[in-house]
Amino acid sequence: MAGEISMIGSVILALFLAGYLGQQYLPPPKPKVIGLDLGTTFCSVGVFQPGTGEVEVIGDEEGRKSIPSVVSFTDTEVLSGHQAQDLADTNPQNTVYDAKRFIGKIFERDVLEQESSRYPFKVINNNGSAEFEISTNHSFTVSPEFIGSRLLLNMKKMAERQLGVPIQKAVISVPAEFDERQRNYTIRAANLAGLEILRVINEPTAAAMAYGLHKVDVFNVLVVDLGGGTLDVSLLNKQGGMFLTRAMAGNNKLGGQDFSQRLLQYAVERVRQEFGVPPTLKEDIHRLRQSVEAAKLNLTLHPSVSIRVPLHLHTADSSAPPSGSSVPKPVVFQAVITRELFEELNEDLFQKILAPVKTVLAEGLLEKEDVDEIVLVGGSTRIPRIRRLISEYFGKQPNTSVDPDLAVVTGVAIQAGIMGGSWPLQVSAIEIPNRHLRKTNFN
Ligand SMILES: *[C@@H]1O[C@H](CO)[C@@H](O)[C@H](O)[C@H]1NC(C)=O
Ligand SMILES: *[C@@H]1O[C@H](CO)[C@@H](O)[C@H](O)[C@H]1NC(C)=O
Ligand SMILES: *[C@@H]1O[C@H](CO)[C@@H](O)[C@H](O)[C@H]1NC(C)=O
Ligand SMILES: *[C@@H]1O[C@H](CO)[C@@H](O)[C@H](O)[C@H]1NC(C)=O
Ligand SMILES: *[C@@H]1O[C@H](CO)[C@@H](O)[C@H](O)[C@H]1NC(C)=O
Repeated sequence: MAGEISMIGSVILALFLAGYLGQQYLPPPKPKVIGLDLGTTFCSVGVFQPGTGEVEVIGDEEGRKSIPSVVSFTDTEVLSGHQAQDLADTNPQNTVYDAKRFIGKIFERDVLEQESSRYPFKVINNNGSAEFEISTNHSFTVSPEFIGSRLLLNMKKMAERQLGVPIQKAVISVPAEFDERQRNYTIRAANLAGLEILRVINEPTAAAMAYGLHKVDVFNVLVVDLGGGTLDVSLLNKQGGMFLTRAMAGNNKLGGQDFSQRLLQYAVERVRQEFGVPPTLKEDIHRLRQSVEAAKLNLTLHPSVSIRVPLHLHTADSSAPPSGSSVPKPVVFQAVITRELFEELNEDLFQKILAPVKTVLAEGLLEKEDVDEIVLVGGSTRIPRIRRLISEYFGKQPNTSVDPDLAVVTGVAIQAGIMGGSWPLQVSAIEIPNRHLRKTNFN
């Protein structure tokens, strides 16, 4: 009798052990929910890996994690991402970018016309909503959410290739200022790509989560997001695991493009001084622009860079025959650009970053000393002068350890992990919608 009991006990113990060991040695479950950052200029996709507890931002076949938010239409294909970007110069009227600026938004007629004049593609008004007119070998219109769906489909495929499983569910981020309609149309874009959206979270909240701020004892978090063309500043208030957006302000005409433009103006002026004429050919301006853009990025790491740009100038050169003087003369423009010069050229623009920062503090009824953490998002926050400006204003260092281009997608992937159930249960992050908040804009 006693033997029987002990045998049953051993069987139970063995079963228990097998279960335990099985759990230990089974490969960790694959993530089923992806996190999406559908940005104005770039998009990214990430997953929370339950095995390692880390976020993996997924790369394309060439390992690139930030995919241009560009869709291009040809006679035979619809391309997106880098492939579409490559067509921007040769197929400008059918290559759509910045679609996020139009999604789910109702425009006044003249506002839309003004917006449209900024782009090489045609934006038309369909009863207040924007649509893009495409003419390949036939003409048709597409909606901003269709453009979004092509980008998200690309993200979905990248994730499926990397994970080896079909993906149907996602969490997506949107700007804090998006109203309910803009959120709905963003969800519609995802649905068109075959994705069910489990939750929509605000970009600044996602960025705060990327730094684990949902898990630590902080109350007031300031998020500064400075991208290619826009500045967004948000003040978040956290109680328990819940984030509330207290105030937002920004400048939708300030960003990296403006800093590059100042460098370009400088280079053009230098060319004029050296050769007597400014560059006028489209290709020359294009090469100068690419060169100063590369120089700007290098100046983040190096104190100075030298640029060398071959140009074709219409110089009033006496050696040219009088009648054939319209033949452009090849020259090489060389210059050394220091970080100091770059900072001088842009100091007034950099100072503009503080205006919305002061506004959110005033609207949130906080002193700058009350801000517990400062989170920097967006590629332009890599610029050393901008980091210094912010840390000097607050008298403390901002949080910068996460790649500023990937902070939002990292946070969204954490939220996707929570929604997918692969996160320890005690950690939650909930966002309290704040329906009555308005964004103050400085332009
Ligand atoms: C456009 O061109 C493609 C490929 O050449 C062809 O399949 C398609 O039928 C054409 N469409 C129209 C409307 O001509
Ligand atoms: C145009 O939009 C208004 C309000 O946004 C709506 O009431 C109306 O039905 C729409 N008209 C058409 C033709 O879609
Ligand atoms: C957004 O979608 C929800 C759910 O489908 C719907 O109830 C709501 O009316 C929509 N709001 C707007 C402004 O489109
Ligand atoms: C920028 O830096 C990279 C890597 O250090 C270098 O290959 C490139 O030539 C630099 N560009 C300029 C314009 O100095
Ligand atoms: C950044 O965030 C973490 C919280 O995850 C915090 O511990 C750290 O002190 C913050 N500040 C800086 C300057 O890194």
